[in-house]
Amino acid sequence: MKIFIDTANIGEIRKAAAMGLLDGVTTNPSLVAKEGKNFRQLLAEILEVVDGPISAEVVSTKTEEIIPEARDLAAIHPNIVVKIPLTKDGLAAVRTLSREGVKTNVTLCFSPTQALLAAKAGATYVSPFVGRLDDVSIDGMELIRRILTIYRNYGFTTEVLVASIRHPIHVLEAALAGAHAATIPFKVIEQLFRHPLTDIGLENFLRDWNSSQAKLV
Ligand code: G3P
Repeated sequence: MKIFIDTANIGEIRKAAAMGLLDGVTTNPSLVAKEGKNFRQLLAEILEVVDGPISAEVVSTKTEEIIPEARDLAAIHPNIVVKIPLTKDGLAAVRTLSREGVKTNVTLCFSPTQALLAAKAGATYVSPFVGRLDDVSIDGMELIRRILTIYRNYGFTTEVLVASIRHPIHVLEAALAGAHAATIPFKVIEQLFRHPLTDIGLENFLRDWNSSQAKLV
C-alpha cells in the first residue's frame, strides 16, 4: 500500500520524507489555507522534497473552469495529480483531462456508485473519506471494501486512495482490504511506528548488553 501524507505543512512533509517511507502527498484547500502561503510556491517546496504524486486541488466548480485550472496545475510538474471534486461538473472535467493524460484524484467520494462513476470517467485515483463517514455513524471502511470489489469486478485501473484517516486502525483496515494507497495525517504516521513492547524490548536488550562484558569489537 502506498503511503501518502495528508498535509500542506512543509515541516511535516520534510519529517515524513526523512522516514524514507513516503510515496506522495495530498493537499486540499483547507490544508493549504492553514499554511497561509502562495499555493504555487507551496507546491514548488513540496515538489523539492518528495518525488512522487502530489495532489493539488482545483477550486473551480464548473467543468469549463475546472479544465483550464487543472491543466495549469498539471503543467507545473509531471508529479502533480489534480484533485477534482466528485460532482457532475467535476467528472465531466475528469473525462476530458484523462484523455489528455492529466493525472486526477477524484475527491469527496462517499458512496460506491460515486466511485464507479469516477472510474468510468478515467480517474487516476479516487479518494473515499472514511473518517467523515464514521463521524456520521456510517462505516467508512465498508465503503473501501465495496469500491475495491466493484473495481476488481470490472478491471478498473483507478486506484483507491483511502482519505480522511483519523487513526492507525483506519490504516490497518485499509491495508487488509487491499487499498492501493492511504493518505495519512503526520500524527497518525508517527503512531504507526510505536509499540510499547518495542520500547521495553529495546530497553532490556541495551541494559543487558551494557551490564555485560560484551563488546562490539
Ligand atoms: O484531503 C482529504 C481528507 O483526507 C480530509 O480529511 O480529516 O479533513 O476529514 P479530514
